[in-house]
Amino acid sequence: MPTVEELPAAASRVEMTQMVLPPDTNMHGTLFGGRLLQWIDICGAIAAQRHCRTKVVTASMDDMHFSVPIQEGDVVILWATVNYVHRSSMEVGVRVEREAPLTGERVHAATSYLTYVALDESGKPHPIPKVRAETPGERRRYNDAITRREFRLARRAAMDARQALEGEG
Ligand SMILES: CC(C)(COP(=O)(O)OP(=O)(O)OC[C@H]1O[C@@H](n2cnc3c(N)ncnc32)[C@H](O)[C@@H]1OP(=O)(O)O)[C@@H](O)C(=O)NCCC(=O)NCCS
Repeated sequence: MPTVEELPAAASRVEMTQMVLPPDTNMHGTLFGGRLLQWIDICGAIAAQRHCRTKVVTASMDDMHFSVPIQEGDVVILWATVNYVHRSSMEVGVRVEREAPLTGERVHAATSYLTYVALDESGKPHPIPKVRAETPGERRRYNDAITRREFRLARRAAMDARQALEGEG
């Protein structure tokens, strides 16, 4: 288990490049959303593991919006970084861009925020080093991640309260 208290956000950064092949597409000839989610989760998990150097599991993924269709033959570039660490959980942001292979033109295609939890050898959540945001962009993402965490907790609390009122199991 790592013993350092803090690691720079940049140390977790991952860049992953994929080409959209026929098995990655849906019946419209565009990238199947589930395949993009898979790539996002892999890219995010590598960033999370680069930060904590332990096993991690995906605990949650925030709402996903696919802004542009991605065609067969397009190149997909994903960047992931740990934005924020709480105790054993960390938020990883993944940015996705579509690159046209013949022109090099790049368009933002999606951004996703995932929460990974670091596990110890027995599979229990385990505290990990904090993340140090060093650049203005990293500081913005760090503060945004705290706000998103508060919203997630508030949403969960609101659901629990409503279900308790309704007597749901
Ligand atoms: C994620 C998981 C390890 C949490 O276990 P748990 O017993 O609920 O642990 P705890 O309640 O002690 O919470 C541990 C941390 O996870 C976070 N967490 C738990 N559920 C979460 C969720 N749904 N979304 C975001 N964070 C979550 C907690 O906030 C806590 O964070 P912190 O330590 O930074 O404060 C467990 O629910 C699990 O194994 N889920 C299945 C994961 C999986 O199979 N993923 C897909 C394949 S990788």
